[in-house]
Amino acid sequence: MPGAAERGTLSDHPSPETPGGAALGGRQDVRLDGMGDLRRTHACGEVGPAQVGEEIVVAGWVHGHRDHGGVIFADVRDRTGRLQFVFRPDTDAEVHRRADELRTEFVILARGRVVRREPENVNPELPTGEVEVEATELRVLNAAVPPPFPIEDEPGVDEAIRLRHRIHDLRRPALQRTLRMRSELGQAFRRSLGDLGFLEIETPILAKATPEGARDFLVPSRLQHGEFYALPQSPQIMKQLFMVAGFDRYFQIARCFRDEDQRADRQLEFTQVDLEMSFVGVDDVLEVLEEVTCRACKEGAGIELPRPFPRMSWAEAMNRFGIDRPDTRIQLELVELTDLFASSEFRAFRGIVDAGGIVKCLPIHDADELSRGDIDRLEKFVRKELGAKGLAWIRVTADGTWQSPIVKFLSDAERVAIQERTEARPGSLIFFQADQSDKANSILARLRVDLGLRLGRTDGRSWDPLFVVDFPLFERDEQGGLTYMHMPFVAPMDEDLDLLESEPEKVRATHYDVILNGTELGSGSLRNHRADVQRRVLEIMGYAKDEMEAQFGFLLNALEAGAPPHGGFAFGYDRLVMVLTGAESLRDVIAFPKTQRGQDLLMDAPSVVQPEQLEELRLRVVRERKEG
Ligand code: AMO
Ligand code: AMP
Repeated sequence: MPGAAERGTLSDHPSPETPGGAALGGRQDVRLDGMGDLRRTHACGEVGPAQVGEEIVVAGWVHGHRDHGGVIFADVRDRTGRLQFVFRPDTDAEVHRRADELRTEFVILARGRVVRREPENVNPELPTGEVEVEATELRVLNAAVPPPFPIEDEPGVDEAIRLRHRIHDLRRPALQRTLRMRSELGQAFRRSLGDLGFLEIETPILAKATPEGARDFLVPSRLQHGEFYALPQSPQIMKQLFMVAGFDRYFQIARCFRDEDQRADRQLEFTQVDLEMSFVGVDDVLEVLEEVTCRACKEGAGIELPRPFPRMSWAEAMNRFGIDRPDTRIQLELVELTDLFASSEFRAFRGIVDAGGIVKCLPIHDADELSRGDIDRLEKFVRKELGAKGLAWIRVTADGTWQSPIVKFLSDAERVAIQERTEARPGSLIFFQADQSDKANSILARLRVDLGLRLGRTDGRSWDPLFVVDFPLFERDEQGGLTYMHMPFVAPMDEDLDLLESEPEKVRATHYDVILNGTELGSGSLRNHRADVQRRVLEIMGYAKDEMEAQFGFLLNALEAGAPPHGGFAFGYDRLVMVLTGAESLRDVIAFPKTQRGQDLLMDAPSVVQPEQLEELRLRVVRERKEG
């Protein structure tokens, strides 16, 4: 409790720190006070019936204020919540007069006695709504311009406005909660990794290109003209070097930079909880990942994930769900039909199979709820938004007849096979895709999720963690050459080493992903710790010897310096917060995010720099002349 010396009315404390008025918000007449020796005793959200009768001091922002015939109510808000102060006509006259000057977002310190509200005034929507504070003292620490939108969870303005006024946006309870959870998750990661013997070590931001498959951000060097640093796409190479150097277990909450097209789940800069360990196999790493994921979710977000995490092979995930990060709570699965159409008379599908494509379908039983109009809208959607060639379908009516735009092209044998494989029955609706496998799978995977959610075909579990394992090591690039599926340092499985040169596409990688509710939380693998195997892998991807040395020489040298077997993982920290909070965009879980066009609207970055700065770097900006 504040001592007697601290008590007193405002007039005892003429603004020592900020004499004069605030030239803000048209409130030049508002006199500002210093904190003096008054200090808060409670956070707003902590005050409840247990404090009734106590005298308290809180500090915060005026969330709202209203005058009911001389009784002034002011809600004070801090990061813990909101608390109502009452200034009655019989309150000290000066305090009452100051309360009358309050405006939204003014910063105040206020003292008063906690009382229980009259039953009819209880606000069940506020956690502090059973009490209010009879004010005895008020200090206005700062004035504020009126906020651009209400500080509420649904401010009802465009995201661009929220991002431009991010300070006000960050005052909203939802963002306060999210960033708080983000902090708690980070601390839980640190605790759990620390308990498991991981050392936290930082790696440079001014670095050299790290191959994670995106474009690099480059930073020009002032000291070495014409040369550039690359910002790390991840600490991948550096953490492998730590293993060679004998650190055994490393982690870092690391900032990563990738100049790639922005989507709801991608940012130009983002954060990974990055780790690496020595003398391990896949199972050892997965054991650590499960432990750390569960502890972070439990201690950071109060969420208990079911254990053990099931494991699914990449091939099974693609086959059943059409995607390598399935949400297995959705009770719909794809069915493979490619072989059926390999010798079919139905030219549209057969032609695609002949060209190396696939035919798959998504059967939905008891689908009467989906009308013909719904089907037409879905077809339009997949054609326009997902680039589908069409959306063939078959509906089995109540009397067992098949309605379909393609049934006339199907032989009896094909009809029987489709019926058996899809277990079609009256009420079933089956959607088909014939296309190259990536596209057919991704379109059906999207329909599976959209329709599964719309029709409520989920199994009711809140959390669905999953390991996806046994990815292929290579995939084909657009030119038809072999390239890495994830990154060039992933070790092949020992059993598949002999296939490297002969059947590279059959080689399975030691790569694994952690999936939560259909989102890829993170990825990792064992790495090539033997330089000879690393060289073979790079050769298969078409690297010439000198190119290999120029790009990865320092890594290859390190592997030759006695590299232990090692492997690791990186959680997408922002993605984890996004899944745990149910946010729809990474922009809602990052304090100062970039827009889709890579801009920071608050700071106005990127921006033009001074000519002298360019001069110093010996850089010249070439502006493309606009024709016409
Ligand atoms: P990867 O590239 O899969 O692996 O990245 C790991 C995780 O980071 C998150 N992530 C992103 N989050 C937001 N915006 C982005 N642009 C973005 N890109 C990736 C994802 C992803 O699962 N060095 C390897 C890890 C390893 O093998 O140890 C790596 O970076 O959640
Ligand atoms: P068409 O003979 O082109 O009119 O197609 C007959 C039906 O098959 C229509 O419903 C199309 O939407 C659908 N369709 C055509 N091509 C494909 C394809 N590659 N995959 C899935 N459905 C298709």
